[in-house]
Amino acid sequence: PVVDTGALSKLGFTAVPKGMADKVTLAAGYTATVVYALGDPLTASTAAYKNDGTDTDYGNRAGDHHDGMEWFSLGSDGSASTTASDRGLIAMNHEATTDETLSSFFLHANGGTKTLPRPATEVDKEVAIHGVSVVEMKKTGSAWAYVQNSAFNRRITALTEVDISGPAKGHTLLKTKYSIDGTRTRGTLNNCGTGKTPWGSFLSGEENWFGYFTRPAGDNLARGNDKSVVALNRYGRAEGAASRHGWETAGTADIYARWINAKTGTSADGTDDYRNELNGMGYIVEMDPYKATSRMVKRTGLGRFAHESAAFSLPKAGEKLAVYMGDDARNEYIYKFVSDTAWSAADANPTDRLATGAKYLDNGKLYVAKFAADGTGQWIELSKATIPTTYTAYAFADEADIRVNSRLAGDAVGATKMDRPEWCATHPTSGEVYFTLTNNSNRRVAPTAGSSTQLAPDSANPRAYTDMKGTTSQQGNPNGHILRLKDAGGSAAALTFTWDVYVFGAQSDADTGLVNLSNLTADQDFSSPDGLVFSKSTGICWIQTDDGAYTDVTNCMMLAGIPGTVGDGTKKTLPHSSALSVDTFIGKAPTADTLKRFLVGPKDCEITGLVETPDGKTMFINIQHPGEGTKMADIADPTKYTSQWPSNAGYGAGKRPRSATIVITKNDGGRIGT
Ligand code: FEO
Ligand code: CA
Ligand code: CA
Ligand code: CA
Repeated sequence: PVVDTGALSKLGFTAVPKGMADKVTLAAGYTATVVYALGDPLTASTAAYKNDGTDTDYGNRAGDHHDGMEWFSLGSDGSASTTASDRGLIAMNHEATTDETLSSFFLHANGGTKTLPRPATEVDKEVAIHGVSVVEMKKTGSAWAYVQNSAFNRRITALTEVDISGPAKGHTLLKTKYSIDGTRTRGTLNNCGTGKTPWGSFLSGEENWFGYFTRPAGDNLARGNDKSVVALNRYGRAEGAASRHGWETAGTADIYARWINAKTGTSADGTDDYRNELNGMGYIVEMDPYKATSRMVKRTGLGRFAHESAAFSLPKAGEKLAVYMGDDARNEYIYKFVSDTAWSAADANPTDRLATGAKYLDNGKLYVAKFAADGTGQWIELSKATIPTTYTAYAFADEADIRVNSRLAGDAVGATKMDRPEWCATHPTSGEVYFTLTNNSNRRVAPTAGSSTQLAPDSANPRAYTDMKGTTSQQGNPNGHILRLKDAGGSAAALTFTWDVYVFGAQSDADTGLVNLSNLTADQDFSSPDGLVFSKSTGICWIQTDDGAYTDVTNCMMLAGIPGTVGDGTKKTLPHSSALSVDTFIGKAPTADTLKRFLVGPKDCEITGLVETPDGKTMFINIQHPGEGTKMADIADPTKYTSQWPSNAGYGAGKRPRSATIVITKNDGGRIGT
């Protein structure tokens, strides 16, 4: 029997070299198998996926662009379990779809239409492959497979009815023609990072939702240039903005018209049009994966932005819960929600998970992070009481308005603008919270005068360079870093914290004075960290990349790290120029035993999402958008696809590349990474 239990002090595998093969390459002694790909049928009566662009019925198939996911064990009788490691549900985000000029071309026989209007037959497929899926996974002998006819399987799409909850429920800002009382909306969109609550439900973060909506020219005037225009501009929908896929052009039916975020009606409160439709997106959305008929719920108390993951503080009986979150856009913020209600251990396995969600997530305070140059930081509450009277860009009506427009509230209190906060994750024993800051092309040593987007480096975002090799093709912080923070006294409700940088992404041959600050070797180097998940079994920090800066050398990858703690390293001064030097704090440098590359993915993919069975012996991860660089014009010639994965790994029909989940096991039956 394998006796490797407990947290690791040393990684137990040999590092995988960087590479550009069109396959999953992983550490020796491990096996990876494809188990769940775009289009796979989720009911007994759904046809097998032909993968040639003629498939339909996407509301009963796996969605596209598999992203974050969480694991929910099932006992042998099909009840919720916290220990079963041979059967369970995966709740998964289907973030987006591989497109070029409007069309999601791998879904359509001839690649689809690249001009407006889009045909409804194409749009209906594209809408349905977005959202969330729940799929049952089962081990038979030593082989894992998904269960096609499981009663737990379900799909949520961009049109499924979803409830609104929390402070903005029923608020004027949420009223639409679809929900005149502001309590519901349709769909969840661009679902990226995830979270799992201490009461056993699933959380999904809505990221780049705004791009699916249009805003016609003339809408500013139609709105009387009111404050909604300020909010729409702040959330990426300036007047005249085109939508990513043109779904609004597929017909006059309401399911298409809702993608036009415009004031067209005459009502005072927006109940006769979709002027407020965008306010129904951008939340953390909760689901009970064990109840296939339950509705998802948007928890507005946790703020509205380009959400990634939602990481909880370690639950302590009698203390409040914190939820840490990032807003993934250049120069956006890090947030923390603190529940009004103290944690009760009796809620760990409730009969009504969504009622428990309301108890902890609908009432609480929302904070934004401000980092100081001395290695400390503050959580600034976002409320009417803390918005300075000197802030006049937007007049917040009430607390709900602050949650719906949290970016504007963050601006008002002077939060620190970060290098694209992607996933965050909580260390399973220390409770310290790690954030991937994936990259930021707007970080500049000498920002252009008058630029509203370029920012000089600061202590928490300390790097800016021309590129890894000293040329000018990539500017800013192209490689990203992983920052971590420790709330004062280990308290979820603390208003101050200490922080440092766990590791800086860099190419191993880059300058160690300004770029490769963590002295990464060829077995450790990476760029643009994105997915970040701690194993509760081994304590390993799994780091996944979504990179565009080092992809001339390697496909995206996953690394394993055993980090130390905040403050275990050194202060370092970065001499950017004669006019600018920046102090930062760098964690203890990783060694060959504490950071190494575990896996490299196929071509043109991102590695994202990670779950483990409770015994730590089975891991699932997602390969997102292999072959996304393929040209739509080459749809008829598979030899021109930039990837043919996973068909070239023996999975499924057709040669079109598909986002897919793989299952990883250790050949000796041990825990992953040991
Ligand atoms: Fe969907 Fe920020 O990655
Ligand atoms: Ca991401
Ligand atoms: Ca990313
Ligand atoms: Ca992505």
